[in-house]
Amino acid sequence: TLVVKAGTPIATIQSTMWGLFFEDINFAADGGIYAELVKNRSFEFNKPLMGWTKIGEEYAGQFQIINSQNENNPRFLRLESLQGKELGLTNEGFRGMGVVAGENYLFSILAKQEQGASALKIELLDSTGLVIGNAEVKNFSGDWKTYETKFACSVTHPKAQLRLTLSGKGVLDIDMVSLFPEHTWKGRKNGLRADLVQKLADLKPGFLRFPGGCIVEGHELETRYQWKKTVGNVDDRKLIVNRWNTEFSYRNAPDYFQSYGLGFFEYFQLAEDIGASPLPILNCGMACEFNSSELVPLDKLDPYIQDILDLIEFANGATTTKWGKLRADMGHPAPFNLKMVGVGNEQWGTQYIDRLKIFLKVLNEKHPEIAFVGGAGPFPDGKDFDYLWTQMRELKVPLVDEHYYRSPEWFLKNASRYDSYDRKGPKIFAGEYAAHDKEGEDAESRNTWKSALAEAALMTGLERNADVVYMASYAPLFGNVNAWQWRPDLIWFDNLKSAATPNYYVQKMFSTNAGTDVVTALVDGKPLTGQDSLFASACIDSKTSELIVKMVNVARHTASLTLSLEGKQPSVKEINLQVVANANPGAFNQVGKPEEVTPVERKQKISGKKIDISLDAYSLTVVRIPIK
Ligand code: AHR
Repeated sequence: TLVVKAGTPIATIQSTMWGLFFEDINFAADGGIYAELVKNRSFEFNKPLMGWTKIGEEYAGQFQIINSQNENNPRFLRLESLQGKELGLTNEGFRGMGVVAGENYLFSILAKQEQGASALKIELLDSTGLVIGNAEVKNFSGDWKTYETKFACSVTHPKAQLRLTLSGKGVLDIDMVSLFPEHTWKGRKNGLRADLVQKLADLKPGFLRFPGGCIVEGHELETRYQWKKTVGNVDDRKLIVNRWNTEFSYRNAPDYFQSYGLGFFEYFQLAEDIGASPLPILNCGMACEFNSSELVPLDKLDPYIQDILDLIEFANGATTTKWGKLRADMGHPAPFNLKMVGVGNEQWGTQYIDRLKIFLKVLNEKHPEIAFVGGAGPFPDGKDFDYLWTQMRELKVPLVDEHYYRSPEWFLKNASRYDSYDRKGPKIFAGEYAAHDKEGEDAESRNTWKSALAEAALMTGLERNADVVYMASYAPLFGNVNAWQWRPDLIWFDNLKSAATPNYYVQKMFSTNAGTDVVTALVDGKPLTGQDSLFASACIDSKTSELIVKMVNVARHTASLTLSLEGKQPSVKEINLQVVANANPGAFNQVGKPEEVTPVERKQKISGKKIDISLDAYSLTVVRIPIK
């Protein structure tokens, strides 16, 4: 019997409790949520024609990469058609281009005609070379200008290519070759993939942490994430190599660069769109400690601190300020309501603390209204963890970012992790976590039901301790099945489709049943943290007058629990149960295949204050009970 004191709220659940961690890893941004279909549109990858294949060089003319004066986007491509024969090139997209029959595509190009009268044929090809959409751009001027055209696609194809062909004798300079579906999230230009954003919106997240992760730090400081380079005119955002490029990591991506088409303005806008509080994480004067460990000397941190001050102005400042004006010019005069900023991602050692102290001295003084988040490194309970926590307490940081990528067994054991945390110190931000189960062949195979169930068990512990745990986010968020570097991930996708993992459904069951206040739920006077393989937490939603109980059964047999309500009673005779269960803990969901693990709804008749609930083998059950 689980005795639930439904009439006695014991702690407020923060509206930020269940959120999202976004990092451009696994082609999450370019080649993922950012809907641009052309790879290396500005010829700025380290190999200027990476992603492009030349056509007609042997007989029709030549290609030249030229450097302009624009230091943010120096290279452009010169096409010289000498014979009047067809000269052109194709772009392979990000492991192909996903295109849909009946959808319109917006093509744009920055071009300048050097000589001759030429037209550019634009064609979308399927993998056999068949034209499945086309348009033409002509009447080019002798000055750099952007040309746009729209055309429909006739066939759905996951790996289309874009071909540009110059007709007529002449010389044409091109840059910023771009192709977007017309239908993006909210129909925005330079927009995001609507199907992927919808999956985020469906989670009703409390916050959106961005832009990472390790990309905040960079392998070296030179390649750290610098938000100022990601805002303003898209053509002038300086592309850099992604920290998860194969040159540096072990899988599948020599062509991984950050175009910054999805930059800080777009991140803030995304957060606003999906009702999430923005949580940017900024560099603290340290490159990734797993790599170069490059450090900014303590007396040279000012530009880094200034970046944070300017970011606050960009997000919240009046439109008369320099950065507030840029936000308004980009289309958002109203503030973005920034309340939290992380200082450093996953750093450790005295080098972190020495820097953090300098940052906080300035930041807290200038912006007492903002919560500046500190971190506890990548080693939960390991290297430096206690040291970092002691320092966090002394520095009185409001929130400490803890990361844990651990086995499912670790997750089960840690369901009671926060029961003994100091109630007077900083609050917890579980900023990156995922249960890591065994690897399989398929990209999605690590996202097993076992891993998701272990996370659900731990999450009951997060909720029970909502007086100290203020925020939590699974990580990483996205994985492109054809270009990933890290797994498991919450959502897998290819160029056309996506799959919610079992882990996604667990997140969704918690975040869409978040409640407002924790209530006590005890078996024999103790919280359920693994006795008989069961875990539970309970809360009320004071806005809807409901009791919400979350129960996890990690055993291979059915279990039963009797909920015994105290202080309140059910106001209905029938209740709703949401259940995710699968008898196979190794089950996982895959892109383009029927779901193996998926929530179902059940109804159950009840009478009185005692409610018997049957918990399936290997299951998460959420019950909502209207109460009076
Ligand atoms: O989520 C993947 C990586 O894990 C993040 O970039 C980093 O913060 C952590 O080590």
